Amino acid sequence: MSKWMPFFNKNEKEIQTEKIDNVPNHVAIIMDGNGRWASERGLPRIAGHKEGMEVVRRIVKEAVEQNIKVLTLYAFSTENWKRPKREIDFLMRLPIEFSNKYLPEMIENNVRIKTIGEFDSLPAHTKRSISHAKEKTKQNDGLLLNFALNYGSRDEIVRATKQVIQDVHDGTIAETDIDEAVIAKYLYTEDVPDPDLLIRTSGEHRLSNFLLWQLAYAEFWFTDVMWPDFNEQIFLDALKDYQKRKRRYGGI
Ligand code: FPP
Repeated sequence: MSKWMPFFNKNEKEIQTEKIDNVPNHVAIIMDGNGRWASERGLPRIAGHKEGMEVVRRIVKEAVEQNIKVLTLYAFSTENWKRPKREIDFLMRLPIEFSNKYLPEMIENNVRIKTIGEFDSLPAHTKRSISHAKEKTKQNDGLLLNFALNYGSRDEIVRATKQVIQDVHDGTIAETDIDEAVIAKYLYTEDVPDPDLLIRTSGEHRLSNFLLWQLAYAEFWFTDVMWPDFNEQIFLDALKDYQKRKRRYGGI
């Protein structure tokens, strides 16, 4: 019996999928369109984020089933602080709600939770809940579920650059040792392999300051579907399309 069975029927839209081969190791997703999805239904924007959280749970489950190693989800950018306070407050409570509802099944399914982004300036209650989820899942060696929270790629690169300069100044590293691998170690993603596949929903075709360094050789896949309508089958469509891609990394 699937380890997920006790949690079935929580979400009636859940879809059974087949297992596929040659999946990407690391999938990154820009979960876009929550606000438009809600507005189209005459609902407040936060209703879209709430529904989006349920989709996160379903896609995590599918990623586990498909043996994907890392799933990085863009949940809140450094630019999202410009949104109305009510929406920010709601988004900052989502990790708490996610943890309250789904941490037991994350633990049960060997999922390890981490974050990338500037953690310290998140609200205290958000940090507490995330730290708890990280602590409870730190021994797990299945899917790494990586939430990008208060994340901005340019900010990440600036921070890394300053730290590299500091370490050269302190003599921790020599200037001559600096190469791509060293720089990668200074990013939030440190020991996580680069994404193989980037998915963006809602019909937008841009990176929005997401993993600019790490996505250098990723395959991109776009859908017009708004994130709250994204599901296991559409996720599989992306994975199957990825299987057909020829990755040349600049070679022939
Ligand atoms: C972008 O859509 C989405 C976000 C800024 C938030 C994404 C967050 C979730 C899907 C939930 C995350 C769950 C956890 C557990 C942290 P938008 O609001 O910009 O949509 P719009 O472009 O239609 O306005």
